[in-house]
Amino acid sequence: MRIPVIAGNWKMNLDRSAAVALARELRDHAASSSAAVGGASGGGAARVEIGVAPPFPYLEAVRSLLRGTPIWVAGQNVSHEKLGAFTGEVAASMLVDVGCSHVLVGHSERRHLYGESSDLVGRKLAAALAAGLAPLLCVGETLAERQAGKTNAVVLEQLESGLKGQEEASLGRLLIAYEPVWAIGTGVNATPAQAGEVHRLIREWLGRRFSKAFAAATRILYGGSVKAENAAELLAVDDVDGALVGGASLTAASFLKIVAACPTRAR
Ligand code: PGA
Repeated sequence: MRIPVIAGNWKMNLDRSAAVALARELRDHAASSSAAVGGASGGGAARVEIGVAPPFPYLEAVRSLLRGTPIWVAGQNVSHEKLGAFTGEVAASMLVDVGCSHVLVGHSERRHLYGESSDLVGRKLAAALAAGLAPLLCVGETLAERQAGKTNAVVLEQLESGLKGQEEASLGRLLIAYEPVWAIGTGVNATPAQAGEVHRLIREWLGRRFSKAFAAATRILYGGSVKAENAAELLAVDDVDGALVGGASLTAASFLKIVAACPTRAR
């Protein structure tokens, strides 16, 4: 059963008081709809799982507000190293220490603005798993790659490298996000047909690389200009199991409209 996931990527936005206020609104929503909002375990009557990825300095404040709710908290990035002289880096164990259960790896802004290679993304994913974090592996092509007909090759290469050396047994909590780079922050979302095509490609690849059961159980989120107005049609696509939301996750009103647009049952 794939319970849909709506995750907010706050990126480098908000200040402390705005982050806390947003977390408080999400907490209040979770409290008022506890039957409908599931946690990382996705147990019980959960209809939709919610997570947020705040900037590092606000992780602890957001996490302490959300403690006792099923809403999970993720880092936006993680070092591939354990601990040591790596100025400016944050270790997976530190994310766990401040209460994160999840972490984004391979977001396109990390790949394209900060030069993270697919190989590095794979090492980050391994570090996250080793520390007990659930990785949210982001993949997606640029506009030039799509126009050159390379979408499938790019996505498959990012999956191969991101999950290199991994065994199915350790990937039970893996989430994947298909985020076409040309759709991120541009207001131009992929059409449901475009998203569906790549999500199917990803699930078929998972079935070849791992087992069919694993492929059928793994949740694949779509990201890129998801907003209240387009969420329902994207989330209705068969292989789209949720959304990774940037801009529209910065206010509770717009984020919760996306949560409300989720299909009413697990697939
Ligand atoms: P966006 O960002 O919703 O602002 O397009 C999505 C993301 O980068 O995760």
